[in-house]
Amino acid sequence: MIEYIAETGSTNSDLLERLKAGERIAEGQWLVADRQTAGRGRQGRRWNGGLGNFMGSTVVHRLPGDPPAPTLALLAGMALHEATVPLVPDASRLHLKWPNDLLYMKAKLAGILLEGQGDAVVVGIGVNLAEAPDLPDRETLSFAAFGPAPDRNLFAGSLAGMFARELERWRTYGLEPLLRRWQAAGLPKGTPLKVHDGTAVAVDGKVAGLAEDGSLLLLLPNGATRPIHAGDVMIADQGT
Ligand code: BTN
Repeated sequence: MIEYIAETGSTNSDLLERLKAGERIAEGQWLVADRQTAGRGRQGRRWNGGLGNFMGSTVVHRLPGDPPAPTLALLAGMALHEATVPLVPDASRLHLKWPNDLLYMKAKLAGILLEGQGDAVVVGIGVNLAEAPDLPDRETLSFAAFGPAPDRNLFAGSLAGMFARELERWRTYGLEPLLRRWQAAGLPKGTPLKVHDGTAVAVDGKVAGLAEDGSLLLLLPNGATRPIHAGDVMIADQGT
């Protein structure tokens, strides 16, 4: 179920190309690389993880009656959270940041990239198991900061298992239970955020939960609540 390769450009690109070429990739199949040379993150960023990190992608085939495809980001985040709770010293500091980052306090441990190809969605996940990249604009952290770096292959097996379980629940019980569990694992209500939603000016607000469709509810300084359907979300300094 898990195919390991030493090096590739991007595991997401590889699966997208295979799908484009007509290959039938079964759900539950993962492509995991030791190294990516052209790894991609959200918003056009790069994601070329170091040796010992997890970089892997899988495919979900959208079926009639499935919840909306963008909520696969929440599903993947939930699987990531479940797989990483045992790896941190204090699980109350491990949070999901909408739509698809895993944080320990304010530092990013992992990210998710969703890309569509016809009726299929490629879900790519990058996890800083052994080392974290230095980024100018955000704090990063690796699991190796807490002790010996988790074994990449054991982690891959655990994440694939959690993902399969979440996918089955999403299909069987729908979105509502996932949203409830995601909110419990997400940044607490009231956390101050700065949201770049594609417009020139960033929007300040506070976490107010998730809407029924999985979008982020942002409590604005004027007391109104705005749903955020897409964008880049940063934790703001307290008091802003
Ligand atoms: C982000 O936080 O910006 C998303 C990062 C997603 C990185 C993963 S690593 C495996 C897969 N292949 C890629 O090229 N990107 C994703």
